[in-house]
This record gives sequence, C-alpha cells and structure tokens, in this order.
Amino acid sequence: MSSPPQESPRLKVALVGCGQHARRSILPCLDDLPADLVATCDVDPTRAREYASRYGTRASFTNLAELIDSHLADAVLLVVGPRLHPELACQAMSGGLHVWMEKPPGMNVADVDRMLAARAAAGRQVVVGCKKIFMPAMDRLSAFLSDAKFGAVRTLSARYPMDVSPDGPAVLAERRPSNWLSNGVHPLSAIVGLGGRPRSLTVHRSPRGGGFVTFEFPTGVLGCLHMAAGHANSGSMERYEVVCEHGHLVLENCTRLLVHRPGYPFDYGQGRDFAAGGEDVAALVYEPQFSLSTLENKAIYLQGFHAELQHFVRSCLSGEPATRGTLEFARAVMECYEAGLLSQGKPIVLDDLPANQGRGVPSP
Ligand SMILES: NC(=O)c1ccc[n+]([C@@H]2O[C@H](COP(=O)([O-])OP(=O)(O)OC[C@H]3O[C@@H](n4cnc5c(N)ncnc54)[C@H](O)[C@@H]3O)[C@@H](O)[C@H]2O)c1
Repeated sequence: MSSPPQESPRLKVALVGCGQHARRSILPCLDDLPADLVATCDVDPTRAREYASRYGTRASFTNLAELIDSHLADAVLLVVGPRLHPELACQAMSGGLHVWMEKPPGMNVADVDRMLAARAAAGRQVVVGCKKIFMPAMDRLSAFLSDAKFGAVRTLSARYPMDVSPDGPAVLAERRPSNWLSNGVHPLSAIVGLGGRPRSLTVHRSPRGGGFVTFEFPTGVLGCLHMAAGHANSGSMERYEVVCEHGHLVLENCTRLLVHRPGYPFDYGQGRDFAAGGEDVAALVYEPQFSLSTLENKAIYLQGFHAELQHFVRSCLSGEPATRGTLEFARAVMECYEAGLLSQGKPIVLDDLPANQGRGVPSP
C-alpha cells in the first residue's frame, strides 16, 4: 500500500501522558494526519524518553512548564486523566498551545467551566475526545436522521455495560473516580450527540447493580440508557437505537448500522413476502469487511479516534473554530454525569444543577 501524500502545512504536537492509551490508540493516529510528534512529556522520565525515541524525537520533558518554555510545539495531546486534564489544559492554553484532551475532560462541570474561561482568554482551539460522536457509523446514522423522509426523532435508546455508584452524591462531592465517569461519558456523549442537551434525566438503579437512565429532551424526544452492568464482554457490548416518525436505525457494536427506511409494504392480514418492496424502501446494512487489512476496518478509525484528532488538527491548521467535541459539548456530557450521580431515582433538571445556579448555561 502506498503511503498517504504528505499534507502541508503540518501541526507540531507534543504528547503529555505517555501511558497505555496513548500508545495503543492515540499515537498511531498521527501516522495518517498532517501532524508531527515533536516532544513528549510524562512525570516518569523513562516513559517520556522511550515514547520520544520510538517516534523519532529526542525532546522529552517531565513537566508541562518545561515543554511550553521549549516553544517546540503548537499543540498538546493530553492523555493523562480527568483529575489533571483541566489544570494541564489551562496551563497549556495560557502558554499559547492548542489542546486536544482525552475523555473525561475533568471531574465535574466546574472543571469544564475553568477550561471554557481559559479558552476565552487564550483564544486557542480545544477538542475533547468524545469518540462516540466521531465514529463513522454514528456519522452515517446522524446523516440519515437529517433526511426528511424519516420525520422527527421520537425516542432513542442506548445500552452499555456500566453502573452509577449508589452513593452518587458522595462520589461527586469527594471528586472520586467511578465507572460512571470513565465509561459513562461514552454513551452519554452518543446520547447528547443524537438528542442534544437533555432538559432532565432520572436514574432508576437496580439494588443489584445496573439500571436505566431516562432522558427528556427540550424537543420532546425521550431517551433511555440501559446500564447493563454484568453484561459479558464477549461479542457486542454497545447498542444505539433511534426511532423516528417513519422508520428506525440501529447501531450495534459500533460497526453494524441497520437503516429501516419507511415504505415497506407491510400487510398484517395478507402479506406473505418479508422482502417485499423495491430498492427505495429496502432496509440498508452497513458493516466493515475484515478480510483485507485496510484502514477503515482498524479500531482507531472505527471507534472515532482518528476522526476526532483529524478535526482538531485541521481546526488548528485552518484557524476555523472546532465545531465538534467542543468544551460546550463536553460540558453538556458532564452535566448529565453530575445529574446521574445526584438523581437517586428523582428527576434532575440540568439547569438546576449546582454548577448552573446563577449563571447562563452555554449550549452545546
Ligand atoms: N477513549 C477511550 O477509549 C480511552 C481508553 C482508555 C483510556 N482513555 C483515557 O486516557 C487517559 C489516560 O489513560 P491511560 O489508561 O493511558 O492511563 P495511564 O496511567 O496508562 O497513562 C497516564 C500517563 O500520564 C502520566 N502522568 C501523570 N501525571 C502527569 C503529569 N502531571 N504530566 C504528564 N504526565 C503525567 C502517567 O505517568 C502515565 O504515564 C484517561 O483520561 C483515560 O480515561 C480513553
């Protein structure tokens, strides 16, 4: 296979956080982007050096201040963790760097607000790695939703193996890490991506673990997240379903998109042909092939990592503000995260969250 043509100009990026995830899923994306890794940074000097040398640079640092002072990079990729992302992002922006950061963006809504203020002051690009909204299959699903023949969305549902801690308010007050934070932000990103910022949500938790979260959207759409804690990790772990006025769409395992278009000539009493109807009404199936080693069937493309970094790199190079995975979008996701911890069976209106008292709420 020939290598992709070298795009010019190119963005100079530095990796902050030389851990497992950066190695597995973030650095490989750079091979196919107009971006060059010019430096690494990790509190562990051995890791910082090792990651730098693997990617052909000798510049490695053990703290962000030194990296900023080096003036080597235009942007940082933060792959550290939610406790440190806000502080590092604000420091990088005030040092003149654009910021892409992995999810979760912080421990709560207030953390995102700090970054929104820093972004306004520094005028830098910021993208949060909300990968679910960047998956090619989710992009295709969303494109079908804007096709008028489906009509308006009525309901949407998600399934993901996860849970909300029974002592949610304490988790929030003590800024404790939890499964609802590290994994919950994935389906919450997809739900906010599909339905917009909900008006309210309610967590109905089973005393045995797992449960359902229901969402009310200002548009009248209703949503539901099945927190399928206990679900085996064999096979498909994740599913999204959107039902419209005319037809529905199902995204299974991030890769199999079924589009049930309106118009199938269903006749309860007389119909004898399940495959009736022409090509304009037939259900569509999109799924990747895994016979050939091509780009589109690799996890970094299927799961949206490449697309989110591409959006970031192109925004930095063009100067056009990023429009996807924005801090406003991440804030709406974190509002759902906080509301989920506080709900304990009662509806929580997002505008009434403590973080939103007495202030205007930016829309995603
Ligand atoms: N989107 C996804 O699917 C996905 C998957 C896995 C992890 N993640 C996210 O990636 C992030 C990192 O996860 P991980 O599994 O790679 O963790 P990790 O512990 O393997 O890596 C984190 C690295 O950050 C370094 N670090 C800590 N403090 C630092 C500081 N102040 N400055 C510079 N480096 C510092 C650590 O030494 C470590 O090498 C988390 O936010 C996690 O949620 C996302």
